Amino acid sequence: MSDAAAVPETTSGTAKRHRNHKMNHAFNFSNKVIFVTGAGTGIGRATAVTFARAGARVVAVGRTDSSLQETTRQIEAIGDEALAIRCDVTHTDEIKAALDQTISRFGRLDFAFNNAGAEQPSTAASDISEDEWDRVLDVNLRAVFVCMKHQIPLLRKQGGGVIVNTSSGAGVKGFPGQAAYCAAKHGLIGLTRAAALDYAKDNIRVNAVCPGIIDTPMMERFTGGTPEGRAGAIAQEPVSRPGSSEEIANTVLWLCSDMSGFVVGPPSWWMAGKPYRPSPSIKRDLT
Ligand SMILES: NC(=O)c1ccc[n+]([C@@H]2O[C@H](COP(=O)([O-])OP(=O)(O)OC[C@H]3O[C@@H](n4cnc5c(N)ncnc54)[C@H](O)[C@@H]3O)[C@@H](O)[C@H]2O)c1
Repeated sequence: MSDAAAVPETTSGTAKRHRNHKMNHAFNFSNKVIFVTGAGTGIGRATAVTFARAGARVVAVGRTDSSLQETTRQIEAIGDEALAIRCDVTHTDEIKAALDQTISRFGRLDFAFNNAGAEQPSTAASDISEDEWDRVLDVNLRAVFVCMKHQIPLLRKQGGGVIVNTSSGAGVKGFPGQAAYCAAKHGLIGLTRAAALDYAKDNIRVNAVCPGIIDTPMMERFTGGTPEGRAGAIAQEPVSRPGSSEEIANTVLWLCSDMSGFVVGPPSWWMAGKPYRPSPSIKRDLT
């Protein structure tokens, strides 16, 4: 990834960035720029703040001004810089405008966290209306494709970068009443795997995270916010508690760092495409 186009430092941000970076050089993201969708709440906000702590300039993208303002307030409290952009990710023109604003403000794009998403009300598959299907697929799958379509040329132009998409546990297994959400999140893994192979040689890594039950506003909504609802959701977690947004943010940080330089696409793409066949020489050695 090219470091050529350094962005200006704020005076207050410089000292904090240097102090943080003594702690762990691998996560020194000074002069890097990340574009985060769904940055006004939950996992998106935690990731925006985590990257700011690591020295990155953050573009916080979301639908609601008031929640974006809270995200930028938290980033500015650390002494870092953020750009808040109101954008509905289901509108292509708004995504393009947000990326244009990113380049005019910071001059570059290094990382994209395509995280905005929405749940569906629990409905058996054949009872889902076509409108509801379209709404869920639009925000959770199509919007990520459109984001990537306009992010990748920017990353290629500057010699590389990293994209992380938010899929879900629902991207790798089925859940009753969640056919549209599961279809979108499974599709997102397919999109991520294929794009990872398309751009690996351009020094662009494309990966996905598949969170379990994470304590966010979305979890409150899908559990009904009741103690029983929460307990039922948490019972699915091997660690007997929900994950925190910060735990997912730390995974995204690792996926964007050089520490994960050999991680290209969600695991098992090579196993899925090419069944493991030991070479004859290895087989002979083992017998
Ligand atoms: N919380 C969980 O248990 C969990 C589990 C697996 C996956 N996820 C995924 O994590 C991601 C983040 O969710 P969260 O848990 O932080 O919940 P959340 O509801 O706090 O975050 C979702 C964000 O996406 C934004 N968003 C929704 N539609 C949008 C649109 N059209 N344009 C722009 N922004 C839009 C919302 O405003 C919100 O800020 C989502 O993709 C979700 O599907 C969450």
